[in-house]
Amino acid sequence: MGANKQLFIQIYDHIVSRMQRGEWQAHDKLPSIRQLANEFQIHRLTVFRAYQLLKQNGKAYVKEKSGYYVSPLSSEQQNDAFTVDASIFTHIHFKNDMSKIHRVPATYQFSQALIDPNLLPNLFLSDYVKKVFDIYPKMMGTYSSAQGDLELREVLCQYMMEQHPVDLDPDEVLITTGAQQAIDLLARLFIRPLDNIIVERPTYSVALDVFRAQGARFLPVDITPDGYDLQQVEHFMRESRPRFFYMNPTFHNPTGYTIPAAQRKRLVELAEQYQCLLIEDDAFHDMYFNEIPTQPIFTYDTDGWVIYLKSFSKYIAPGLRVCAVLGRRSLIDSLITLKSLADNGSPLVNQKLFLHYFKSERMQQHVDKLRTALQIRKEIMEQELAQTGWEWVSPQGGLNLWVKLPAEISVTELWDQCIRQSVSFVPGTIFDPSRELNSSIRLSYSFVNETQIKQGMRRLVDAANHIRSH
Ligand SMILES: Cc1ncc(COP(=O)(O)O)c(C=O)c1O
Repeated sequence: MGANKQLFIQIYDHIVSRMQRGEWQAHDKLPSIRQLANEFQIHRLTVFRAYQLLKQNGKAYVKEKSGYYVSPLSSEQQNDAFTVDASIFTHIHFKNDMSKIHRVPATYQFSQALIDPNLLPNLFLSDYVKKVFDIYPKMMGTYSSAQGDLELREVLCQYMMEQHPVDLDPDEVLITTGAQQAIDLLARLFIRPLDNIIVERPTYSVALDVFRAQGARFLPVDITPDGYDLQQVEHFMRESRPRFFYMNPTFHNPTGYTIPAAQRKRLVELAEQYQCLLIEDDAFHDMYFNEIPTQPIFTYDTDGWVIYLKSFSKYIAPGLRVCAVLGRRSLIDSLITLKSLADNGSPLVNQKLFLHYFKSERMQQHVDKLRTALQIRKEIMEQELAQTGWEWVSPQGGLNLWVKLPAEISVTELWDQCIRQSVSFVPGTIFDPSRELNSSIRLSYSFVNETQIKQGMRRLVDAANHIRSH
């Protein structure tokens, strides 16, 4: 009884917050009871009670045989527009599954989708630090603007325009402390408790944790080697009014899949038609092995429905935590405000060091070498896996293999055995918004060297065989 009461109040609060954000304005017709019950997968009676409360509180009125409509706000209600009932936060959980896994010590860390520091030009970078301090002697004593260093934004615009068919202005760029911060700011900007968002299944688990912490409800769309089920995407966009679709369409984490070009164009059309933002997280675009991948979804966008996140953490200088967020001006302005509330701008020293390294010839050489090194590591891991009969699709870029284990091997048991053998991996369930993918695991080949990959994989396969034979 108590739980029911809470649920209908949560639905009530959700509708009120959508009214306050102007999604439903005075005299707009509200969704039917059946529609909302389907959207939230709850009983119609619960929605009915929420609507009754809206009526009772003067927030909605009924038209005979037609349905519920939004009442015009009284001035008292307008003043009250931004208060939120604390009860709505009761279903929110704060956690970060990935960081828990990374805290488990292991010699063979197949759980880390990070570049092995030995693959970075460390000596060159340290020489560079001195040079950059000579250019900007007051760098340590200066704040960056909240939007990010202008010189860096200009260079990144130039780079994007050289690489892709886009037209960009430095005003349409925000520098964040890694893509992680960009995801967090976007979640704060767009998500209110019980809002729907579309996510891939599986997807980057930390993004799920961030969205969960804001109270989002997930609409999962499977990602396969052929892309998404676009009918499903359209259905969600049409029926559930999602705030956005968060996606990692190129060398996707954890699967390594890439969404085909034809789907990219269609996704932008759908985004425009249903006014649903696409958040394109493109952390691995430059980590291809043989062929340059298809153009980002962002490049198909002419109307400002795509926000593009380009993190450089994964291949240039993970320690500097530089990411560029590209989007339409009004959206970047809102993000700048949130960024100024979060940290008032990323450290200038990091941005300037990154800028000069990014512009250097050495950087290009480094990235070319890195691609080759990663491809070799991937192939070594695949050679070790080849004898197992397990399933995976060989990725053409990125840092991970997404491996499906036979039903008789429990991932939980494999994890326990592997940790005893000092081998770590990431269980598939944490990437799944519905927590059902319990026979897949993510193995990263980017953090450990060739010898360690061979040794660690043998331990992992032995552990699996041990489980099978018991
Ligand atoms: C898809 C994806 N997005 C974002 C991030 C976080 O990137 P950053 O290190 O720039 O915060 C990661 C890191 O693994 C990732 O895989």
